[in-house]
Amino acid sequence: MVDYYSRISSRARSLKPSEIREILSLTEGKDIISLAGGLPGPEVFPKEKLASISKRVIEEFGDKSLQYSPTLGVSHFREEVSKFVTSKGVKVNEDDVVTITTGSQEALFLLGLSLIDPGDSIIIEAPTYLAALNTFKFFGADFISIPIDEGGMKVETIEDEIKKAIDAGKKVKLIYTVPTAHNPTGVIMNDERRRQLIDVANKYDLLVVEDDPYSYFVFDTEERFVSLKTLDTEDRVMYLGTFSKILSPGLRLGYLIAPSKVVRSVELAKQIVDLHTSTLAQYIAMYALKEGVVGETIENARKVYRTKRDVLVDALESYLPEGSEYYKPKGGLFAFIYLPGSIDTTSMLMKAIERGVAYVPGRNFFADGSGSNALRINFSYPSIEKLREGVRRICELVKEEINVA
Ligand SMILES: Cc1ncc(COP(=O)(O)O)c(C=O)c1O
Repeated sequence: MVDYYSRISSRARSLKPSEIREILSLTEGKDIISLAGGLPGPEVFPKEKLASISKRVIEEFGDKSLQYSPTLGVSHFREEVSKFVTSKGVKVNEDDVVTITTGSQEALFLLGLSLIDPGDSIIIEAPTYLAALNTFKFFGADFISIPIDEGGMKVETIEDEIKKAIDAGKKVKLIYTVPTAHNPTGVIMNDERRRQLIDVANKYDLLVVEDDPYSYFVFDTEERFVSLKTLDTEDRVMYLGTFSKILSPGLRLGYLIAPSKVVRSVELAKQIVDLHTSTLAQYIAMYALKEGVVGETIENARKVYRTKRDVLVDALESYLPEGSEYYKPKGGLFAFIYLPGSIDTTSMLMKAIERGVAYVPGRNFFADGSGSNALRINFSYPSIEKLREGVRRICELVKEEINVA
C-alpha cells in the first residue's frame, strides 16, 4: 500500500480541521438539534422562484449560462452586484473592481494569498469569524486581538497595540473586521469607532478587510451604521459580500469589491484555484437580483430571524445560570455566551451531543486561546421549538457541570 501520509506536503499538514465542519459531520443524519453552523433557516429559501429562474436561465440562456466564463465573473452579474451594494449604501469607487468568488470564503483565501506573508500582523476582533482566522493562520499571519464590547471592536485600543507590534519589529498589514451584526457576537460597531478605525488605518497605512454578510439582518430599525467602505477616503477598504445568507449558500456566490491593483493579484490567484465561479450560479443570482427575489428574501429572512432572536433571548433569560454574560444580538445569526466558573465548552461538547444538541465552543473564535468558557449559538437554522429546546438542554448541562465543579 502506498504511504500517502509521508507524502502530504508540509503546507497541507499545517491545515487544522474546522471544528464546525467536524461537528456538523458528527451530527449528520442524527436527531440532533444543531445550534452550531451558520445555516440560513430553510424556510427562507425562495424555492419556487429559484426553480423557475433556474429553468429559464438554462432554457433561454443555456449557451452562456452552462459555459465557462471570465475569472472575475459574468460582467452583467458584476454590474448587478455593484448596483445592489450601492443601493444598500456601500460606496463603489471608480477604481474598484467587483470580483465574483466562490463564496466569500474564497475571497478570504484569495486575499490571504495575495496579501499575507508569514509573520505579518493582522488586527482582528476577539472573538472573530473562525474561518477567517483559520485562513489567515494558514498563510502564516500573527494576530493582534482587539476585544469587543456592545459597540463593536474597541478601536480606541488599536493604536497602542500597533505601536507595541512595530516596536517588536512586526509588520502590521491589515485590519480584518465584521463591523455589522458581527459573527459570533451580533454586535454592531458604533459610528465613532468606525471613523476612528479609518483614521488609524490612514495614519498607519493599513489595509482594511470589511466582511459584511449580515448587514441585511439588523433587527432594530433605529440602528444606523455606515459601511467602512463608504467612510474610506484612501482606497484602503476591501469589501466582502455574499449571497449565502440572502439567497442560498448552496449557490456558493460571494464577491470582493476592491481597488484594481489588489484585484489583479486576486484574479491571478483565482485562475489557479478554480478558473472562475460557477457560471450557472451567477446567472441564477443575476435574475434573482433583477426580479426582486433577493430583496424579498432579505425582507422575509429579517422578520424570521428577528422572531428567532427574540425566542433565543427569551430562552437564555429563562434557562442560563446566574453569572452568564452575552450581548443581545442586534443582528446576524448568532449569540456568543460566556458561562460562569471554569466550564470548558470544548470538553462539554460531546456531552451536549449525547443529549441531542450541538453548539460551537468559544475557543475557536480567538487567536490567543481564550474563550474556553464561551459558546456560540446559531438561531437562524432551527425551528422555534427546537431552538428553545436546544437552549434548555445546553443550560441544563451547564448547570450540572457547575455543580460538579
Ligand atoms: C463573517 C463571515 N464571513 C464569511 C462567511 C463565508 O460565507 P460564504 O463563503 O458562504 O460566502 C461567513 C459565513 O458564515 C461569515 O459568517
